[in-house]
Amino acid sequence: MNDIDILKLYFKDEELQKAIKKYENGTPAAYIIGEWEFFGDRYLLNEDCLIPRCDTERVVEKVLDKLSDDGRLLDLCTGSGCIAVSTLKRKLNASGVAVDISPKAIEAAKENAIINCVNGRLDFLCADIFDKPLGRERFDIIVSNPPYIPTKDLETLDEYVKKEPAIALDGGADGMDFYNFLVMEYKDNLTENGLFVFEIGYDQQEKIQETAKRYGFECVVTNDYSGNPRVAVLKKI
Ligand SMILES: C[S@@+](CC[C@H](N)C(=O)[O-])C[C@H]1O[C@@H](n2cnc3c(N)ncnc32)[C@H](O)[C@@H]1O
Repeated sequence: MNDIDILKLYFKDEELQKAIKKYENGTPAAYIIGEWEFFGDRYLLNEDCLIPRCDTERVVEKVLDKLSDDGRLLDLCTGSGCIAVSTLKRKLNASGVAVDISPKAIEAAKENAIINCVNGRLDFLCADIFDKPLGRERFDIIVSNPPYIPTKDLETLDEYVKKEPAIALDGGADGMDFYNFLVMEYKDNLTENGLFVFEIGYDQQEKIQETAKRYGFECVVTNDYSGNPRVAVLKKI
């Protein structure tokens, strides 16, 4: 189903014409309807949330595979909350914390936890991950789909992607700022056999492997269904 067909499900007559006009002027369909589907779950969105992508469903699959039934999950840069919420929805005794710097994204993520019935097991923090707001708390999995696009590439993005918050996309000069900081500064927040699970850009496999090696981790990267390396799992050696 294309985006216009999706708009037709939500709007009729004059409202539909207005919605199509907005879409043709560059507003993504997800922002016009205010919700999107991810991993078969419903997510409410505002324009401060990255629109959840199919690629990120591979990250959820990996976390579901690795997290024990009553494990503790930390989702850094949670946005709409999609990774943490869809994971906890399927791990009924697991719990976690989700962090994002954007107050409006955290607002949406809290609503998404409620509508997906995981709100009792997921805490939210509106904070800058570079301030290390978790102290010494330990987690079995630290998952993140952080901003990872090199700053110089932001201008080349599709017009619809440019409507998404720049703060959700800009990963610094080589796109690696968040990963480098997370591995260096959050490694002591992992339990003994804990794992980092990261979504990475299709061309960042070598760089994430270098980062992992530098801090004493082995790194296994899994491809998405199109054959691009997109999910990195880091384990302390
Ligand atoms: C690529 S989006 C991912 C959102 C969501 N996890 C997903 O997979 O759809 C990155 C998120 O990082 C957040 N972010 C950017 N800089 C941050 C920082 N310094 N501390 C915490 N969150 C940050 C943005 O607000 C955005 O929600």
